[in-house]
Amino acid sequence: MTQSKNQYVRDLRDKDTVQNPFLIKFSALAVGKNGKPYMNLVLMDKTGEIEARLWEDAARYAGGAVRDAFVWVEGRCQLYQGRRQIVVSRMNVLREDEVDVRDYIAEGEVDVEALYAKLLGYVESMQDPFYKALAESILRDDADVVDRIKRAPAAKSVHHAYKGGLLEHVLSITGILDHMAGHYGKYVDRDLLFLGGFLHDIGKLWELSYDRVTDYTTEGKLVGHLVMGSELVEKKVRWLESQPGRLPGAFPDEKRLLVKHLILAHHGRLEYASPKRPKCIEALIVHMIDDLDSKVNAIQQFISNDLTPGRWTSLNRQFERFFFKPDWALTDAEKSDTE
Ligand SMILES: [Fe+2]
Ligand SMILES: [Fe+2]
Repeated sequence: MTQSKNQYVRDLRDKDTVQNPFLIKFSALAVGKNGKPYMNLVLMDKTGEIEARLWEDAARYAGGAVRDAFVWVEGRCQLYQGRRQIVVSRMNVLREDEVDVRDYIAEGEVDVEALYAKLLGYVESMQDPFYKALAESILRDDADVVDRIKRAPAAKSVHHAYKGGLLEHVLSITGILDHMAGHYGKYVDRDLLFLGGFLHDIGKLWELSYDRVTDYTTEGKLVGHLVMGSELVEKKVRWLESQPGRLPGAFPDEKRLLVKHLILAHHGRLEYASPKRPKCIEALIVHMIDDLDSKVNAIQQFISNDLTPGRWTSLNRQFERFFFKPDWALTDAEKSDTE
């Protein structure tokens, strides 16, 4: 029997009674000040995620209520430090055939088909035959990439952490890079900038697993998306060279190395897991625009999800500050209060 879902994370409000199935994104046992074990949980469904606490009988649930498990939850939603939290009074682990899995996969508001078409439009506008062939071989001709890029989030949490988030991030960056190419004119190579935008995070397609809860894969943990992206470029250049008629000649070494450099340098600093710092203008621009785009998205998501009444958010730990809430983030009642 399917446990039908009619209560979604997005709609939960302070003092709501909760009686619905959720997917566990995170669970851990902790010990309270009174020495009793309790459980910290992050529950999710396709509309978002919410923290939860289970105070009673926590040890009993520890084996079954693990990440990726579906659970029936009874309890109450309440505000704690400006954030919603479910205090769980009862929980029950469900079998996968008892739920409709589609209710739990984060959707985002991303129209992936439209974004993907736009991406191919940018590829189409490229001039350099080698750079263009490389982009096509990955983004258009590789069925695994095409399938994954329509599903992948850009990160486990923090920014663009929803289905299609990577594609949204890539398109957002490429749009800005297009302006940069016009702005700096002859000093930058538009095609190279584009490849940086398209490919800087392409390794994330395999660095993360995102069929349900997003997590790192073994390859992601051991190799990471910068090196994985660089390896993909190597592989595709060799493949293109083996395909008669795909290239006007041997793929120039310098171009291959520049593309790899843009990927390997995009985190900007050695201590942020970049094996190289940016050594050309295009690499610097891709790094800075990537940083900007991920931060803008992270702050926008944070402000959107913050429920602290009034003009200021609760403390954002990543940025170590409170954010001012613009009009779009206020409820109608709050808007009339601040007038
Ligand atoms: Fe990255
Ligand atoms: Fe990125």
